[in-house]
Amino acid sequence: METKKKRIGIYPGSFDPLTNGHLDIIIRASRLFDSLIVGVLRNDAKKTLFSMEERVALIRKCTEDIPNVSVEMFEGLLVDFVHEKKADAIVRGLRAVSDYEYELQMAMLNKHMSPDVETIFLMTDINNSYLSSSVVKDVAMHGGNIRGLVPETVIDDIYRKVKAK
Ligand code: PNS
Repeated sequence: METKKKRIGIYPGSFDPLTNGHLDIIIRASRLFDSLIVGVLRNDAKKTLFSMEERVALIRKCTEDIPNVSVEMFEGLLVDFVHEKKADAIVRGLRAVSDYEYELQMAMLNKHMSPDVETIFLMTDINNSYLSSSVVKDVAMHGGNIRGLVPETVIDDIYRKVKAK
């Protein structure tokens, strides 16, 4: 009897830090795949507030209740990571039209490099459409309230981090 191949999705990003917008995409994408790998980019050239290990730990803390979600770091090309994991598709969230150009470029470039790799876009929930890691960091750094912008469990971690900087 033929066994059905398990569908694997990869949701890549910098996640510096994870926001409610990211978490919403993770939850919804986890329902579309047998397993979803959140791929956290290690990019030493890019200055991040949180280290790679911290970003991975924050996402793990927020997704520990979703059994088919795992969190892994990757470096180098995303398409190579997709092949290494034998994944079926890349998942990205789209907020506004302004995201589209960059996302289209990335999806087409990945398709050019690796025609077998598909990119699937999920529309961000309207309530999270103004959210980004950058605005969260900005609000936190200026002592503003980030409740409602990021998962409750990571609020203190973020304040602690920006205070230490
Ligand atoms: O959260 P981000 O920063 O918008 O995520 C961007 C990310 C990590 C998906 C993208 O930069 C990426 O895939 N980088 C890995 C290098 C790569 O494959 N580059 C070619 C496609 S842009």
